[in-house]
Amino acid sequence: MTRVIRSVRTMTAWSLALHREGVVIGVVPTMGALHDGHRSLIRRARLSCDAVVVSLFVNPSQFGPGEDFSRYPRPTRADAALCREEGVDVLFMPSREAVYPQGFQTTVTVRELARRWEGAKRPGHFDGVATVVTKLFGLVRPHVAFFGQKDFQQSVLVRRLVEDLNLGVRIVVCPTVRERDGLALSSRNRYLTPVQRRSAPVLHEALQAGRTAILRGIRFGSQIGRAMRGVIETDPKVTVDYLAVCDPDTLEPLPRVTKSAMLLGAVRLGRVRLIDNLLVRLDGR
Ligand code: PAF
Repeated sequence: MTRVIRSVRTMTAWSLALHREGVVIGVVPTMGALHDGHRSLIRRARLSCDAVVVSLFVNPSQFGPGEDFSRYPRPTRADAALCREEGVDVLFMPSREAVYPQGFQTTVTVRELARRWEGAKRPGHFDGVATVVTKLFGLVRPHVAFFGQKDFQQSVLVRRLVEDLNLGVRIVVCPTVRERDGLALSSRNRYLTPVQRRSAPVLHEALQAGRTAILRGIRFGSQIGRAMRGVIETDPKVTVDYLAVCDPDTLEPLPRVTKSAMLLGAVRLGRVRLIDNLLVRLDGR
């Protein structure tokens, strides 16, 4: 039985009662439109926690003007069914007013980590993410939180947030789940037209071309970047937002790859924006 909780008070009371019994609580923070990527996070949470909470909140503060907040998919019934299927204990669905009540004034600001890549293209996005994640942790009081590697910059930032603000939550980052043709699962994939859907795997192909270049001995970030861009340019329907070769810990661009590199990419197909990444290790880890 999945219990649906909408009230923030009930959520925290439920959690504190379980804390007193020594129950380990895991949370999977989501904005809904759940897919097999979320399913894998829930399953991972079930493995290491006694109780699993899925939070579902389309957070307005992480969407910029002109972004897709109002049309973001909200298939709540299907989301609740997936949670039931996966044996989720609580589906936490607070209202906007509950999360940001009248008089709300305090937000979390992230510095350098939030300024590059996604942050540069979506100003204010990561402050919105950091604020809502901090709020969700305060409301759900989890011991562990599960995030997908697909949103790699977000996962680096959340780890930093937890450390900087001593939030006391263990962060687990789980591998990206992909379609058979390599496209990373994302709630936004459902915006793709059939024609765009056929083009969409080109982002993963570009990142793989970057990895192949590194494994063949190319070390300069600029050359690896060109190898990735060359793949995207084969499809005129796809435009590059950014393609980056960067340090996996700091997300700073790498002029030269020595140990490991995180390849990050974001592209647009019409109005749809897709992101993906690939970690390349040369250190044998
Ligand atoms: O990754 C997401 O779905 C969102 O950014 C998150 C972490 C749920 C915060 O709104």
